[in-house]
Amino acid sequence: MRIPFGTISVTEKSKDLIQEILHSNRLSSGRYVREFEKKFAELVGAKEAVAVSSGTDADMLALAVLYDFGAERGDEIIVPALSFVATGNAVLAAGFTPVFADVDRKTLNIDPLRIEEAITEKTRAIMPVHLMGKPADMDVIKEIAGRHKLYVIEDAAEAHGAEYKGKRAGSLGDMGAFSLYVAHIISTVEGGIISTDNEAFAEVLRSLRSHGRACKCKSCVLNTASAYCEKRFGNNGGGDIRFVFERIGFSSKMNELEAAVGIGNLDIYQEILNKRRENLYYLLEKIRQFNRYIVSIEKGPHEEIGPHALPMIVQEESRFTRNQLVKHLEKSGIDTRDLFTSMPTQCCGFKFTGHKPGDFPNAEYIGKNGIHIGVHQDLGKAECDYIIDTLEEFLTGNT
Ligand SMILES: Cc1ncc(COP(=O)(O)O)c(C=O)c1O
Repeated sequence: MRIPFGTISVTEKSKDLIQEILHSNRLSSGRYVREFEKKFAELVGAKEAVAVSSGTDADMLALAVLYDFGAERGDEIIVPALSFVATGNAVLAAGFTPVFADVDRKTLNIDPLRIEEAITEKTRAIMPVHLMGKPADMDVIKEIAGRHKLYVIEDAAEAHGAEYKGKRAGSLGDMGAFSLYVAHIISTVEGGIISTDNEAFAEVLRSLRSHGRACKCKSCVLNTASAYCEKRFGNNGGGDIRFVFERIGFSSKMNELEAAVGIGNLDIYQEILNKRRENLYYLLEKIRQFNRYIVSIEKGPHEEIGPHALPMIVQEESRFTRNQLVKHLEKSGIDTRDLFTSMPTQCCGFKFTGHKPGDFPNAEYIGKNGIHIGVHQDLGKAECDYIIDTLEEFLTGNT
């Protein structure tokens, strides 16, 4: 049996739309991107959504918005030490300084106690990551943010469909940044999107994704039937607003072909989510029998986990290493991924932060001993049972 890590569903509707778009020759960001944004915002329960070219760009642009709202270059953003490296990279690429806080080993998420210690005069935002789709402790994070007048930007890259106290991930902070990469629950192949209730933020995001232009309307007549835009030259003699650059920007637009894949994904979103959640919750239940040696996350009563993947952490009591487990799973046809790294101490790019091994014990432990495997919509009960049987077989020979 083969259990690949991820999959992508490209619907017949997406294929038809792609044909239509190719024939229209209107391929760069246009009406299908707008349609995808509108539908995504409705799904998350946010007023606005702004599509970009990757989840990393979603993180980066959400942060860069803060320059319009009082932040200065070099200000500090608090992020969990454990995440996919894109979280830390995006903070730097946006021109901010990442300040790392250790995670809770049980939830994999930023430990609120460590946030408080990391706050300085220069802190502007907290960027919790809902790792593996498990919502971060948002009530406590928002309470801390409120007290210190900080923004909260969710890195919801892995948290499509996650819910915290009845609200969806992406609607819990000031902005939510999602990845739409292939292995994710909603995919545009490559892509990202930022959700927000703040229309002023959304407007700045539309400018940022297109070089910082003054051209940033929610709907664009140039992308529809009309070829003339009143606003474009109505700039009091200041010229074409497409060549007025209001802020330092990026080149991060989504294209129409990507939006077509995303629109098809939204049509079958509930189906994908249900299937993945069924797989994840079944596996979480079954894996509990092994928890002396291998531990996963738990679903709390106040939440639904966004079923991105199944994390597993090899425990101290085990007589086997992560590598031995990985070898067994891979040989058995089960694709594995490491459960990321402690960015400040296990990614050499962050050496300049001056941290040393031991500074983030929980993130480092997971970085050395964690893996994750797929729970995607192409898997069913037989595949889930195969995963559990394979783990059981391994543990029988190694405990
Ligand atoms: C937590 C987290 N943040 C950011 C990203 C970046 O997303 P992308 O690969 O679409 O740039 C990912 C990627 O999956 C991620 O897992």
